[in-house]
Amino acid sequence: MNKKPIDAVWKLAGRSLTKDLDLTVAEVSHLLELALEVKRDPAAFARALGGRYLALLFEKPSLRTRVTFELSIKQLGGDSILSVGPVADREPVKDVARNLDRWTNGIVARTFQQETLDELARWSTVPVINALSNLYHPCQALADVLTLREHLGDLAGRKLAYVGDGNNVAHSLLLTATRLGVSVAAASPPGYEPQAEIVARARETGARVAVTNVPEEAVAGADAVYTDVWASMGQEKQRTERLRAFETYRVTEKLMSVARPGALFMHCLPARRGEEVTDEVIESPQSVIFDQAENRLHVQKALLLMLL
Ligand code: CP
Ligand code: NVA
Repeated sequence: MNKKPIDAVWKLAGRSLTKDLDLTVAEVSHLLELALEVKRDPAAFARALGGRYLALLFEKPSLRTRVTFELSIKQLGGDSILSVGPVADREPVKDVARNLDRWTNGIVARTFQQETLDELARWSTVPVINALSNLYHPCQALADVLTLREHLGDLAGRKLAYVGDGNNVAHSLLLTATRLGVSVAAASPPGYEPQAEIVARARETGARVAVTNVPEEAVAGADAVYTDVWASMGQEKQRTERLRAFETYRVTEKLMSVARPGALFMHCLPARRGEEVTDEVIESPQSVIFDQAENRLHVQKALLLMLL
């Protein structure tokens, strides 16, 4: 890939990323190229956000997202302030948005409800970035497709299997991977499939999208197998019933043997070893989980460069 000078960065000033589809396919491709450039030569971007400040709002716990956003911003020359707790416990979201946009250049928010993010974006004059909601995890999906590209090269015609809960991570993967020509097959227990509307949007890309209740069917011939926890943050009370429902959806060596030989294993982390994935699989040479985690940093830097 050619080295791009920083003035080649596409400027999407003022735009938000509240959901995957806020970026066009061309913008996602540009973001991935830029992320590779930032990864290769971070020093070239060390002053890009000089004098810019972002607010980080976290309603739920985080290791990767919080640390990589704080580092992304600092390594680009900017700074951030962190608020942990409900976005709007003392005043409406629209007032929070109209306070923060007077002081900061952007808002990164992890919320329970997608509506909170949408409302922040609606009222804020500075970009709002989704750091995970109940419906989407777009920054994770961007890191995941970058990881796939690094390991597999051109993604058109590749097959990604997602086994487990049709949750925020599954939704963003479906929307983002299909836009790069990846066919996605998702296997979930009945009642836990990805939302039909999101599956339909993914199908509009023209990529093959299959939804099944049979893990072996989804994994057959896959280039990569992805899973996530069976009970997401906020679903702790459903843990017992979910453990029962997902028992046969664990990614094991046996299930991996149905995929293409050498197929990648992927997980957004944090993982519950022994539940959605066995220790052997997550620790195997096929596992690229820490590449995914590292790439969070690089794609988020690219995103900040474009949106700010
Ligand atoms: N993958 C991910 O978003 O991890 P955190 O919940 O630790 O941020
Ligand atoms: N689906 C998980 C992802 C965590 C990064 C959750 O929402 O808790």
